[in-house]
Amino acid sequence: MRMLWVDCNRVVAAGRGDAEPTWHEIRAGAEDIAQRAELIGGFWAQIDKQGAEILDSVEFDDRIGATEAYKSMGAACDGCHHSTWPIAYMHVTDGVIDRWLKNLPTHGQMEEVDEVPPPLIPNRDSMKTLFFHYQMLELRLEQFKLGDVREQVEAVRKQAQPRAARWKTVAENARTIAELSKKHKREGMKEAYTNMTTACLACHGDQAGALRPIMVPMPWDGPMK
Ligand code: HEC
Ligand code: HEC
Repeated sequence: MRMLWVDCNRVVAAGRGDAEPTWHEIRAGAEDIAQRAELIGGFWAQIDKQGAEILDSVEFDDRIGATEAYKSMGAACDGCHHSTWPIAYMHVTDGVIDRWLKNLPTHGQMEEVDEVPPPLIPNRDSMKTLFFHYQMLELRLEQFKLGDVREQVEAVRKQAQPRAARWKTVAENARTIAELSKKHKREGMKEAYTNMTTACLACHGDQAGALRPIMVPMPWDGPMK
């Protein structure tokens, strides 16, 4: 996430000034944003897709298919956690790193004391809700009643879909920026950059709220006057 901010600012900084922009710098920043957005958005898209797959399987009485789709959904949750959580959140503390460096075993889920716990931003709340529905879904799949399964799947998809869409907007506009820089074109750059960062800010507004201040990318201002 922080890298996204760095990339945005490098794009803006490289496009500033009267001199010709540093096109390769813009392109590198934009491509990195696109890849990260595709990765993160891809997890949400995967969760959404597996939700549809679960419903289809239950409708056609395919228990194996439903279980497989449920597992793939969980793998997408975990995949995103591994690629977005800070390492301390994954219990990789200094003590753990120390033992790894000495080639010693470590206990999973070591208790760590967090002196300043992170604020309960809407994202964390919604993660707890997601986890609740994800667990309920497993129970419902044991009973295998379409209506009950659907209720849980819909609750998960309702969270996944808007996020997948936001990341798609980020990724598409970052790709546009990369394409424009390849052609050394300034026209359209401001629009793509603004669309992209508006999606960043809109999601932060929803998911982080006012509780967690998040660094805002620099605005596109093109050549300096
Ligand atoms: C965009 C990537 C992403 C996806 C996809 C994702 N999560 Fe998370 N999840 C996070 C982040 C980031 C946190 C850290 C919470 C925070 O923001 O403080 C988190 C935290 C959590 C937590 C811990 C909440 C707590 O008490 O601190 C649970 C449980 C969780 N997620 C469950 C799920 C489940 C279940 C799914 C899939 C249905 C899922 N997540 C999908 C990124 C993701
Ligand atoms: C679909 C939602 C979503 C999108 C899109 C999104 N973010 Fe975030 N971002 C979050 C959430 C949620 C957090 C807070 C995670 C936390 O505190 O646990 C976050 C945190 C951050 C942080 C703080 C990271 C830190 O370690 O302090 C930065 C910087 C950031 N985002 C930049 C960006 C930029 C730049 C973009 C667009 C190119 C972007 N984000 C797009 C959801 C999103």
